[in-house]
Amino acid sequence: MFKVGIIGCGGMGNMHATCYEAIDGVQLVAVASTNEDQLQKMQEEYKVKTYFSAEELILDSELDIIDICLPTFLHVEYAIKAIEAGKIVFIEKPLCLTAEDADLLLETQKRTGAKVQVGHVVRFWDEYVWLKNAVENKIYGNLISVNFTRLSPLPAWSWNDWFNDHTKSGSMALDMHIHDTDFIRYMMNAEPDNFKTNVTRTKAGVIDYISTSYNFGDVLISAEACWAMPGNFPFKCAFTARFDDATVVFDTDTLNVYKFDGTHEQPEMTNDFDSGSDTGINVSNLGPYYNELKYFIDKLSKNEPIETASLNEAATSLKLVLSEIQSVGGVKI
Ligand SMILES: NC(=O)c1ccc[n+]([C@@H]2O[C@H](COP(=O)([O-])OP(=O)(O)OC[C@H]3O[C@@H](n4cnc5c(N)ncnc54)[C@H](O)[C@@H]3O)[C@@H](O)[C@H]2O)c1
Repeated sequence: MFKVGIIGCGGMGNMHATCYEAIDGVQLVAVASTNEDQLQKMQEEYKVKTYFSAEELILDSELDIIDICLPTFLHVEYAIKAIEAGKIVFIEKPLCLTAEDADLLLETQKRTGAKVQVGHVVRFWDEYVWLKNAVENKIYGNLISVNFTRLSPLPAWSWNDWFNDHTKSGSMALDMHIHDTDFIRYMMNAEPDNFKTNVTRTKAGVIDYISTSYNFGDVLISAEACWAMPGNFPFKCAFTARFDDATVVFDTDTLNVYKFDGTHEQPEMTNDFDSGSDTGINVSNLGPYYNELKYFIDKLSKNEPIETASLNEAATSLKLVLSEIQSVGGVKI
């Protein structure tokens, strides 16, 4: 039985806690947060030890796994402390804010041999897993193009409004667009030959919309993301994929295949897990988060390497998004 401690008890900390409760072979034992009310709520709900100090939680000898659900600018500091303390580590995405910090994490992992997974949850999202399989196995012939979309209001639940501070979150481009960039690399099992990025900016000059097209040989893939939608706009993640024999359309919770032979399919997604609980963030179904943490615990239980959403993969995706941001003059001008 792996014993896990979560640092950060906001949106993702709660999401992970609910998932661990549902996964065999792991027990949530401790949580850390700077927010007393959150600690008390977690203590009542999960009967866990609580820490105000992340450092103290990391040094708790009962813990095998440290799960870092902190605001992004704090990831690198606590991930390195946890690795150096000999722990297995899960780090929410995006990995960190800079290429230098990503390299520091990679060097620390190489030196210590630590097992690390990063929260690139789209790699475990049923409809995206299904799309990767359709591409790899040419279920509808060759892939021609895909357009990915990810639109949201600015996250409203965050600690000290840190998402809204680009020095802490890296802006929407790093926080949200990276979901699709990472998945595109994973789906194609390759790096793009080149890319072209366009953005819009707030009056303060911070990126609030990004659109990047990536060329992979003859295949054209684009991804747009925005978190400047009105507060009542429902979170939307979607893709339209064109194959030789069909066009596939996913829109937040529906997947349709329109075939050139005139038929229509609605593939059934099988491995969804819905706790029915309100997680407080903009995705109500635990499914993909359950899938990613189940993969993590399964790999640890079997003592197999973490390949999907590894530290190296997360660092490569981070560097690609940073290059995109750099190509348009930075997060803020
Ligand atoms: N995978 C996804 O789909 C997804 C979705 C949302 C957020 N995220 C990522 O998850 C991470 C956390 O985001 P969130 O939405 O949970 O943020 P949040 O603001 O809801 O929660 C952050 C938590 O960290 C705590 N905290 C801050 N400083 C601390 C410190 N020094 N020690 C201990 N606790 C501290 C806060 O009290 C709060 O509990 C971010 O990197 C974010 O980008 C991922």
